[in-house]
Amino acid sequence: MTKKISVLVGSLRKGSFNRMLAKTLIHEAPEAMTFDFVEIGDLPLYNPDLDDEGTAPEAWTVFRKAISASDGVMFVTPEYNRGLPAAIKNALDVGSRPYGESVWAGKPALVVSGSMGGVGGFGANHHLRQSLVFLDMPVLQQPEAYIGGFHTMFDDDGTMTNDDTRKFLGTIMTAYAAWVSTITG
Ligand SMILES: Cc1cc2nc3c(=O)[nH]c(=O)nc-3n(C[C@H](O)[C@H](O)[C@H](O)COP(=O)(O)O)c2cc1C
Repeated sequence: MTKKISVLVGSLRKGSFNRMLAKTLIHEAPEAMTFDFVEIGDLPLYNPDLDDEGTAPEAWTVFRKAISASDGVMFVTPEYNRGLPAAIKNALDVGSRPYGESVWAGKPALVVSGSMGGVGGFGANHHLRQSLVFLDMPVLQQPEAYIGGFHTMFDDDGTMTNDDTRKFLGTIMTAYAAWVSTITG
């Protein structure tokens, strides 16, 4: 059965290399998966009072429904100051509440980090994994994906020009597809 995957990109930048990376990952994915970018840039900062008072912003509700309706979640993110970007953390927080109604639990996840630097966003990748453990998301362990120097890998149209990396991204997506099937049946 076709699996529906939500894609969250940690960069809000128009020319984001992480978004190009996400599109390449999707391009290299097996056919048994469909992908929807779920935008996180306009989610108001999480404030529990709004849930408690029944005044949750519409954007939170739409976001929670989108994640709930998916079979898995793919995170593609830059590293900001050796951690994960605030936009992703806010999205995690919004989806985790109201208490007992988290939309994340049990959804198989993929974490890919990308950076201009050689370390490939390792800090952000594992910072994100720390929250995903608590949110009870089974995260693909191998292959790990820290894509360094990614600003040299795309042409002006956002097409991946590095064949070795493109093949590696295909390997990741094949492993993720198998992981999603293992978890969701
Ligand atoms: C606020 C900020 C903090 C950053 N911190 C890091 C960092 O800790 N490690 C790193 O490798 N790159 C860091 N960068 C550089 C990003 O890797 C680079 O801007 C990258 O292109 C961001 O991804 P994007 O192209 O998808 O926006 C930082 C960039 C910004 C804007």
